[in-house]
Amino acid sequence: MENSPFSKEIIDKKIKELRIADPGKASIREIVALVNLVEEETGQKYIRMEMGVPGLPPAQVGVDAEIEALQRGVAAIYPMVDGIKPLKEEAARFIKNFLDIEVSPKSCIPTVGSMQGTYSAFLAVGNAVKGKDTTLFIDPGFPVQKQQMQVLGQKYKTFDVFHFRGEKLKAKLEEYLSKGDICSIVYSNPNNPAWICLSEEELQTIGDLANQYDVVVMEDLAYFGMDFRQDFSKPGEPPFQPTVARYTENYILFISSSKIFSYAGQRCALMIVSDSLYKRDYPDLQERFGGTDFGSTITLRLIYALSTGASHSAQWALAAMLKAANEGRFNFVESVKEYGEKAKVMKRLFLENGFDIVYKEDLDQPIANGFYFTISYPGMTGNQLVANLLYYGVSAIALDNTGSDEEGIRACVSFVKREQFGDMEERLKLFNEYFSQKN
Ligand SMILES: Cc1ncc(COP(=O)(O)O)c(C=O)c1O
Repeated sequence: MENSPFSKEIIDKKIKELRIADPGKASIREIVALVNLVEEETGQKYIRMEMGVPGLPPAQVGVDAEIEALQRGVAAIYPMVDGIKPLKEEAARFIKNFLDIEVSPKSCIPTVGSMQGTYSAFLAVGNAVKGKDTTLFIDPGFPVQKQQMQVLGQKYKTFDVFHFRGEKLKAKLEEYLSKGDICSIVYSNPNNPAWICLSEEELQTIGDLANQYDVVVMEDLAYFGMDFRQDFSKPGEPPFQPTVARYTENYILFISSSKIFSYAGQRCALMIVSDSLYKRDYPDLQERFGGTDFGSTITLRLIYALSTGASHSAQWALAAMLKAANEGRFNFVESVKEYGEKAKVMKRLFLENGFDIVYKEDLDQPIANGFYFTISYPGMTGNQLVANLLYYGVSAIALDNTGSDEEGIRACVSFVKREQFGDMEERLKLFNEYFSQKN
């Protein structure tokens, strides 16, 4: 690695300092810590692709509403544990306008980021029916949700959807569902990390099976509307963001404000429970947590115990952003299109320098350009690629962190600045010069 632009000695020293056994296998936060230390000591900047930080300014309409709410004094007051009324109302309108799904405001619950949404939903669904206690992840997926499983001490199974798209999905899901222990199916759409976008047909398969086997589908819409191949930005007008909610009432949707509104720092998201699931009584759940119906158990037992609601001022911000989107005053899709544009350039730089895209196709189309993409390098495992790229000033996480069976890494485009594309190209060239000779 004689041609690497970053000092191997410094990087190796920092890896030791942080007690990272194998940088290729490091978690997102470990890579973040390592790269921070190396940047500090060398004064050089990495091409940072490890973490999904928004990288765009927060939606101004949210910032203004939050400042105004703070000036009105909301910081002194506990919000209702199931959320402030204006937010619940705008959320239900948003679901109608952009998903074309009817849901009542009561079923729209603010959470401390989608992280708290999935945590409390896992807790509820995993305890709803005795013996039905295992979550099925359609992977690759967001690594922290597996960590939530670990913290909760819950069981999960997972499979990589790479070889099971389209018509193959049904049989694969039934292989798991027919055992009778699966309580929920979890996936993100668009997918973190592969940027796969499940089709309406695939979602219908999932919804039909959820009805047949009585399991809850947890649909993570952190990247709502961000399949830029279609325009999902017009309120009340088709096309609508694809969703499983069209095919089953057994759903919980998670709508994060972190990416679509660049509001990650305020940790305020929405959990949308279908009206019929909200009202459902599960005797085992009542015995476990002492609550009443499913929805009230989530709000009055679980969220109450975890954080007693979400930040009051951030709820006003989210209400204002949703209202502006509902009224067609704020095109939230347009404001994040930059991610897709950057992905196009970044993919090209990788492809020109010996790399390949791992999750290349979305059914019969090339994968869309969005927040993430996946890449591989010939003859290298994903872990080796992460470790080797570190010496060339490029940071990412390995795909095996995400439940993928494929060798490669996840590239997140959001934090990379356009001004860095020149450095990026040069570093990938040096990387390829060195490793193409070795192979
Ligand atoms: C698929 C997915 N779900 C959830 C989250 C976290 O959302 P929040 O910031 O609202 O907790 C992320 C963030 O990267 C994500 O990629």
